[in-house]
Amino acid sequence: MKNYNRRGFLQTSTLGAMAASTLSVNCQNNLNSNRDGIYMGDFSEKPNNNIRAAFIGINRGSTHLKNFATLPGTEVVALCDLYEDIVEREYGKLKTYTDKLDNLKKYWGDENKWKLMLDEVKPDVVFISSNWNSHAPMAIESMKKGAHAFVEVPLAVTLEEMWDIVNTSEKTKKHCMMMENVNYGRDELLFLNMCRKGLVGELLHAEAAYIHELRWQMYNEERGTGSWRTLHYANGKGNLYPTHGLGPVAQYMNLARGEDNFKTLVSFSSPALGRNIYSKKNFDENHKWNKLDFSNGDMNTSILKTVLGRTVMVQWDETSPRPYSRLNLIQGTLGTLAGFPTRVALENGFKDITKDHHSWIQGENLQKIYDEYDHPLYKRLNAKTKKSGHGGMDGIMMYRIVECLQKGLPLDQNVYEGCFWSAVTPLSGNSIENEGAPQQFPDFTRGEWKKTKELGIVL
Ligand SMILES: NC(=O)c1ccc[n+]([C@@H]2O[C@H](COP(=O)([O-])OP(=O)(O)OC[C@H]3O[C@@H](n4cnc5c(N)ncnc54)[C@H](O)[C@@H]3O)[C@@H](O)[C@H]2O)c1
Repeated sequence: MKNYNRRGFLQTSTLGAMAASTLSVNCQNNLNSNRDGIYMGDFSEKPNNNIRAAFIGINRGSTHLKNFATLPGTEVVALCDLYEDIVEREYGKLKTYTDKLDNLKKYWGDENKWKLMLDEVKPDVVFISSNWNSHAPMAIESMKKGAHAFVEVPLAVTLEEMWDIVNTSEKTKKHCMMMENVNYGRDELLFLNMCRKGLVGELLHAEAAYIHELRWQMYNEERGTGSWRTLHYANGKGNLYPTHGLGPVAQYMNLARGEDNFKTLVSFSSPALGRNIYSKKNFDENHKWNKLDFSNGDMNTSILKTVLGRTVMVQWDETSPRPYSRLNLIQGTLGTLAGFPTRVALENGFKDITKDHHSWIQGENLQKIYDEYDHPLYKRLNAKTKKSGHGGMDGIMMYRIVECLQKGLPLDQNVYEGCFWSAVTPLSGNSIENEGAPQQFPDFTRGEWKKTKELGIVL
């Protein structure tokens, strides 16, 4: 459709770069093609009171399995992993959560068994928690086989895959939600609530990050996260894990939902030193990790500009020795909310704690903020979900997925949001390849974001 300005894209990209021009042509092709299906921004299905779910990849997926199977009106119909021991381990645990197992089938043994599983079991929904390269093909095939797809982060790794996901979702009328659990964290829900109440005024700027020292994952040498994620550190470029930090601030700003949208991105990375040093120090010189060149900068900083001109800084560093942070900062004309540690500054002060914005409300004083502004969803579900994983956010997310499917409501995160948030990876890589040149976000909604409802405060 018309929204895509190819000339604009080319002006802001480095013309000579083969990768960038190939990309622009692909994006253009996808955008210029008419939508073959329906817009999925506010899509809802008819209510489903017995959700039959299949699970592919059940390491991280183990948490989703437990949180799903322990909710009423759900049924697990298939477990699929590469490894028999993982399937049997999870089956053993599942038996302790539910006795509704008559229809359950187990799959393992090779990397295509999930396809057989889709054909044989015909699930209503598929939860995909495998390695990043398999997310898109699994989600696309699941939708084609009639299932809604719920996919771990990131939704996909290339812009082409993201367009394929959008096009398939629209054509098949199946949800494809990237499961960004951080949007359900207590502080993220609190900040969303405070933003919606106008407490920080007009939103101007946000800061988001995934700063998490994960070098130890390299000890997963043959199986597990590090066995495949280490290859991304060597071969990937830019911000390889943007969505945990970006998802929440994007929803504070209503990006891709009526008010504003993603527009351009510039990106730079620091030197790439830490992985090479760690690898040489901890692994034999002939070890496979020491045959890799970890050339992606240790710390990546991207700056996004929105249609309204707001800015979002997104950082990524899984290598450097420093404490965990997602930054989680949102700044407006009346104040600033920030995370790690949680802090609130309001121009007009707050109760008897602060008189203006020159000092933070933090530590024990935050209790009064929580008392006043905790999100209703957190208050409703925290007692049930607080042991569900990642401080309770995993359980609230699954509760909402199931609740929306059972009541036939739109999901809290639509397929376009998953694509916009994940697109920071390929766009930051392209920007770095081109000396920091601005990259245009594809408009995965084809202009429909202007009509998409904001995520309200779910009660
Ligand atoms: N949202 C979060 O908080 C969070 C936390 C951890 C991981 N993750 C995400 O979850 C995903 C999985 O991460 P992980 O740490 O569990 O990785 P992992 O490698 O430990 O587990 C992935 C599982 O998928 C299985 N698998 C891979 N290919 C398969 C195939 N073709 N068919 C069937 N099974 C297959 C593997 O055997 C493995 O057991 C990643 O996308 C990661 O980014 C998210």
